[in-house]
Parts: sequence; structure tokens; C-alpha cells
Amino acid sequence: MSALKVEFVKSATNIKDYPKPDKPEIAIVGRSNVGKSSLLNAIFKRSIAKVSAKPGKTRLINFFSFNDKIYFVDLPGYGFASVSKAEKEKWQKMIEEYLLNRENLKYVIMLVDSRHPPTSLDKLMKDWLESFGLNYIVVATKADKLNQSEKAKTTKIIREELNLDKDKPVFLTSAKEGTGIKELLSYIFESLEK
Ligand code: GTP
Ligand code: MG
Repeated sequence: MSALKVEFVKSATNIKDYPKPDKPEIAIVGRSNVGKSSLLNAIFKRSIAKVSAKPGKTRLINFFSFNDKIYFVDLPGYGFASVSKAEKEKWQKMIEEYLLNRENLKYVIMLVDSRHPPTSLDKLMKDWLESFGLNYIVVATKADKLNQSEKAKTTKIIREELNLDKDKPVFLTSAKEGTGIKELLSYIFESLEK
């Protein structure tokens, strides 16, 4: 791909503030701190999405335009224990409203931490995406923290725990080292063209 053009478009909490659905869109979901914003920065090759070592950094729906062709969307994470019940419910509602109503949403990238088996919330998220017929792929993050034998095992564990269909790919990535990003993007772009 030629030079990247990445722009932050806007943040929204509410459907009425989303940008016009005039391009195919790809959203990133996953537990708080799993590396959603970092993965986007690795895709964009610049630090444009806000990252933090503390969970709960991304609190709004953030839209980015990629080469004027695609929107990438950074979402708040789920499973963040240290916020009030009301706050959790607000985030859940915001994420659900987005996922259920965004007509140009082509793909959901669901992130799981490669160091741990998927959590019960990850399983719920996967079942939920499936039940609403959303097109999703699973991406394992932070692969730089694994040794070779752990790397070999992790995708198998994720596949089994999430009960994924054989035709669903699982990409092992590291935003830190940039591994797996090219393969992930090729897969998505090829699928969008089909
Ligand atoms: P929320 O916005 O809170 O939901 O989190 P997030 O999923 O957007 O995670 P974020 O990208 O902010 O990253 C959380 C922490 O994990 C940060 O300290 C990142 O530096 C770290 N991190 C993210 N990706 C990687 C990776 O590939 N390797 C390593 N070693 N650390 C990573
Ligand atoms: Mg984030």
C-alpha cells in the first residue's frame, strides 16, 4: 500500500454524532487494556489513538479515516472492574448501540490477550457478535510477551475456548513489534473487496 493517510475524524457517544456512513467501517472490540488503541496505532503507523497502561483509557467511540477509504473505530473496553455499575452500563449501552446500528460496519476485530485464555466476557462477546450476525475475526494481542512454545499454543487455546469455526482465522499480533499486522490488514482488505 502507498503512503498512509490517517485522520482522526471525531469522537461520539451517541448515534446522532457518528460520521456519515459513507465508507466501509471496521471496529475494534475487547477487554479494557487488551491493546485496542495500540493495535490501531500499529495499523496506522503512528500514535494517534490514546494508549494507557491503566485500563479504561478509551471512553468514547473514536472514528479514524484510513486513506479516505475506510473508517476504523476504537471503542471503549469491557470488563473494567474499577468503575461504577452505572458507568459500566453506560459503556455497554454505547458499544451495543454502535454495533447494532452502524449500517456501514463491515468487520469487527475482537481482541483477546494472547497470554491468557479468553475470559467469560470474551466468550459472551463472541456469542453476542455471532447472534447478531456481525462479521468478526479474532486477534490475539501482546505476542511479544510470549516465548516460542507459548506462541505455538495460544491460537489453538483461543480457538477451542471460543469455539471458533474452522474457517475463522486467528491472528497473533504485537503492536509493540509490529508482527502480524500486515497479515491482518491483507485479510481484511481482501475480504472487503469480495
Ligand atoms: P482501553 O482503552 O482501556 O479499553 O484499553 P486498550 O484496549 O485500548 O489498550 P491500550 O492500547 O491502551 O494498551 C493497554 C496497555 O497494553 C498499554 O500499556 C500498552 O502499551 C500495552 N500494549 C498494547 N499492545 C501491546 C503489545 O503488543 N505488546 C506489549 N508488550 N504491550 C502492549
Ligand atoms: Mg483504548
